Amino acid sequence: MAKVVVLRMGHRIVRDKRVTTHVGLVARAFGADGMIISNISDTAVEGSIRKVVQNWGGDFFVESGRPWRTVVESWRREGGLIVHLTMYGMPVDELIPELRNKDILVIVGGEKMPGEIFEIADFNVAIGNQPHSEIAALAIFLDRLFDGAELKKEFKNSKMKIIPSEKGKKVEIKS
Ligand SMILES: C[S@@+](CC[C@H](N)C(=O)[O-])C[C@H]1O[C@@H](n2cnc3c(N)ncnc32)[C@H](O)[C@@H]1O
Repeated sequence: MAKVVVLRMGHRIVRDKRVTTHVGLVARAFGADGMIISNISDTAVEGSIRKVVQNWGGDFFVESGRPWRTVVESWRREGGLIVHLTMYGMPVDELIPELRNKDILVIVGGEKMPGEIFEIADFNVAIGNQPHSEIAALAIFLDRLFDGAELKKEFKNSKMKIIPSEKGKKVEIKS
């Protein structure tokens, strides 16, 4: 099975807790295997995401604090591709056929990315060429990559599971 891991760069511990948590939640819900927050250790964000995993299942991992360069170099050594999501890149729909079923490190940034990321990446991928958000860019990238199948994914060992309903909230609590 191909592995997809998100590398969240540019996390600022005071300002970005919510955005980075949402990057992690989207990564998990949309089929990625894990998220690495580079350079900064943030145990609060790690804890919030792990709590979701405990309740809602799956084996999504989260870690923080490793320098981005180390993460990228070890991913490349193991033969995986590096994909950088940026509005300056090439259209997602042109590149996606080359990315399916490969091990991919998906880099998303914050305010300003080091220029060398554009050179290091095997693919600079744009989700449209307008500025928007790392959360939206990641969601659409993963949805295109998995062609919608991620929305039907079963999350193993969950404590709770939603029973879809037209009105109200139905949740199965497992014992
Ligand atoms: C606040 S935005 C910064 C926008 C940035 N100037 C850029 O290169 O895309 C933070 C992150 O969102 C993602 N992002 C924003 N717009 C995007 C787009 N149109 N396509 C792909 N990724 C995008 C990128 O990963 C970027 O590092």
